[in-house]
Amino acid sequence: MPDQAALLRWFEAQGRQDLPWRATRDPWSVLVAEVMLQQTQVSRVLPRFAAFLADFPTARACAVSPVAAVIEHWDGLGYNRRAVNLWRAAGVVTDRFDGVFPPSLSALQELPGVGPYTARAVLAFAFEHDVGVVDTNAARVLARWVGRSLTRSEVQQLADAAVPPARGWSWNQAMLDLGATVCTARHPNCGACPLRHGCGWFGSDSPDPDPAVGSAGVSGGQSRFAGSDRQGRGRLVRALRAGPVPVTELAPVMGWPDDVGRAERVAATLVVDGLAVIAGGRYRLPR
Ligand code: ADE
Repeated sequence: MPDQAALLRWFEAQGRQDLPWRATRDPWSVLVAEVMLQQTQVSRVLPRFAAFLADFPTARACAVSPVAAVIEHWDGLGYNRRAVNLWRAAGVVTDRFDGVFPPSLSALQELPGVGPYTARAVLAFAFEHDVGVVDTNAARVLARWVGRSLTRSEVQQLADAAVPPARGWSWNQAMLDLGATVCTARHPNCGACPLRHGCGWFGSDSPDPDPAVGSAGVSGGQSRFAGSDRQGRGRLVRALRAGPVPVTELAPVMGWPDDVGRAERVAATLVVDGLAVIAGGRYRLPR
C-alpha cells in the first residue's frame, strides 16, 4: 500500500490549499468544480468557478435557468457539451431528488455527464466518503506505484483500498495534487515524491516504457486542437453566445469558408448534443 502518512504529510505541507472548491462541502459546488476541471486546467477554472456559482448557486437555480444561460457561462472553458450535461444533471437532482444530492454512487452515476470519476469525486469531496477517486492523475500515480499497467478494475480496487479510514477527503485531494504537480505525465519529479519509497517504477530505476502509458484511466492527452472538428465547434458556440448565425455564414464562422459540407456536418453534431438549434434559417443557442 502507498505510504498513507507520508502522502498526507506532504499534502498538508505542499498541497494546493487555496483552491476555492476545497473550501466547500456543498455537493452542487463540488460537482460544478469537478465538471469544470475535467479536461480544463486549474488556472482556467479558477476565475470561472465563483462566477458560475454566483449565478447558479444551487442545482435548482441552474435547472430553472434556460440552458442557453449555462452555455453562455461556459465561455473559455471548452468542451461545451459539459455545460449542457451539467444543466441536465441539475434538472434531474431538482425533479427526482427535490434538489438534494443523493450520497449514493449508483444514483450519482445516473446523472447526465456523471461517470465513475465524477460520482466518486462528489462522494469523497462533498460527503467525505472513503472512496478512491480515479482521474487521469490518480490513475497515473497508481500504475507507476505498482510498476505496471493496470486494468480498470485493478486501478479502482487499489484506489479504494489505499484510502486511509476517515481521511478520504484529504487523501484523494492529495493524490490529485501529487499527479498534477510531482508525478506528472512527462516530467515526474521522483526526488520530491512522498511515495517514492515503495514505488515500483522508481524502485526499478524508472525504466521505459512508463507503466502509466496505456494503463486504465490514464488519458493519452488531448488531441490536436488546431484544424480539428472541436475547433470549429468551439468557434460556432462562441459565435452563438453573441447571437444567431445565418446558415449562409456557417462555414466562415466555423473557420472553414471553403468547406460548407464539413461545417454542416459538424454543426449537426452540436444540434445532437443540445448545444444549438436551427430555426428560420439560423443557428442559435437552445432556450
Ligand atoms: N482536478 C480534478 N479535481 C480536482 C480537485 N478537486 N482539485 C484540484 N484539481 C482537480
